[in-house]
Amino acid sequence: MRIGIVTAGGDCPGLNAVIRAAVRKGVLHYGNEFVGFTEGWRGLIEDLSMPLNLQTTDEILSRGGTILRSSRLDIRQVHGGYVKCMQTMARHGVEALIAIGGNGTQAASLALSEVGVNVVGVPKTIDNDLSGTDMCFGFDTAVNVATEAIDRLHTTAEAHNRVIVCEVMGRHTGWIAACAGLAGGAHVIVIPERPIDLDDICAQVQYEWQEGRQYAIIVAAEGAHLPNTEWTSPTRKLGGIGIALAKVIEERTGYETRSISLGHVQRGGTPTAYDRQLATRYGVAAVDVVNERRYGRMVALKNSVIVDIPLEEAVAPPRGVDAQLMGVITALRPAALKFTSLSTESSG
Ligand code: F6P
Repeated sequence: MRIGIVTAGGDCPGLNAVIRAAVRKGVLHYGNEFVGFTEGWRGLIEDLSMPLNLQTTDEILSRGGTILRSSRLDIRQVHGGYVKCMQTMARHGVEALIAIGGNGTQAASLALSEVGVNVVGVPKTIDNDLSGTDMCFGFDTAVNVATEAIDRLHTTAEAHNRVIVCEVMGRHTGWIAACAGLAGGAHVIVIPERPIDLDDICAQVQYEWQEGRQYAIIVAAEGAHLPNTEWTSPTRKLGGIGIALAKVIEERTGYETRSISLGHVQRGGTPTAYDRQLATRYGVAAVDVVNERRYGRMVALKNSVIVDIPLEEAVAPPRGVDAQLMGVITALRPAALKFTSLSTESSG
């Protein structure tokens, strides 16, 4: 069987590990041949491809990005996109497609599957927000990058008696903020799953001064909504909450505040060991599902076991931070805090 592989949407560490594992299992155990469609769905629309075999996928396990490159082109938005995709696959003698991607990619995979294309999905995104799986590869690397950054922010914030707001990615969910914030010992964690309470954030900051620490680290997810600011518009591009939050906190508390946005640093570079093994397990499982000709499915991690689920399950609304993790965030802060505004207390 000839199998196509495509990586679509925002890249993340571990994509190459999936490609390598799929090709190795397919070639060595099923006698499969592979074609890589490049630049995301554009490769299938415009017939852009590269050979995938044991040689071209050698030594890519630890490499970030994707040897297939990616794009945000959405096949559903392209006139005649499905037909072009089927024609490209037919030209290459490709019977099935492994689509590695996040929400948008799996939604496109489902749409293709509904018009008869044989597709199997692999869940990828640093945001970790895909439904139907406990974990997407790429997330662990992003959390590690963010955690290291937060560790570093502690020392500079402490040296200057400052508040530093660290904005992390995550789209409309707070997985990176919650996990990196906890791992990095952030004093305040702001996530979209909880409405922002500015008084409460400022009270938590004041608490760090009252306790003698005299600095505070705030981790804010890019998708969190700050009331009454331009970033509350759902039509605007994500990003900017860090700057907005820093301004308000400095105004309200009087403490010098800086902000930093980690941005695409979280998506770049070499995958962690966890992501390499998860991506490898996904790649192997995807090829198994394809060879069993069970199409319209996505491989997933459930209770530490690799399974496969219908694509319909994967494209359910994004999975937000769960109540237990939110409970851990709450558990680490004082139960009742009251913000004392600057009008009644002089700043530190
Ligand atoms: O979905 C992954 C992600 O990195 C989000 O966290 C972020 O909001 C978005 O992609 C950034 O997209 P782009 O790379 O297109 O700017």
